Amino acid sequence: MNKEISTSVSAVKREDVMKIINAFRDQPGALIPLLQAVQREYGYVPKEAVDLIADELGMFPVDIYGVLTFYAQFYLEPRGRHTIRVCEGTACYIMGGKDILDRLKTDLGVEESKTTADGRFYLETVACLGCCGMAPAMMIDEDFYGNCTVGQLDEILKKYE
Ligand code: FES
Repeated sequence: MNKEISTSVSAVKREDVMKIINAFRDQPGALIPLLQAVQREYGYVPKEAVDLIADELGMFPVDIYGVLTFYAQFYLEPRGRHTIRVCEGTACYIMGGKDILDRLKTDLGVEESKTTADGRFYLETVACLGCCGMAPAMMIDEDFYGNCTVGQLDEILKKYE
């Protein structure tokens, strides 16, 4: 494979990506956990990391992009440090989810599927978080918030820097 690719990773710290690759090397079926680990490190899967993984594992980048684009969990662009997922399913919508979303957009100055100017939050909507009995619901990173009110948002957002 192209050795030049393996020396071109600088912005994303080649050694860090290599550490992750080595942790999963030779494990059958480890590509997805490997990509998840890269995403945990950077918040997305950088192109340089894809090239290095392909180089090290003897794969073509296109095959890795096939995996990345198949699974919604992976991001190919930088995102805010924290991801806010506002549910816009029917139950949440009826219970005020749209107000939550509108308030977040206004307060954070950001549209859906965008990152705030300070890089703090990425805002997105999801179809259903699976907790419709606690509508309206949202998540920030791995934290779930049910029965949300607009009035709680300031306090909730303060927890995430
Ligand atoms: S509709 Fe919002 S959690 Fe199901």
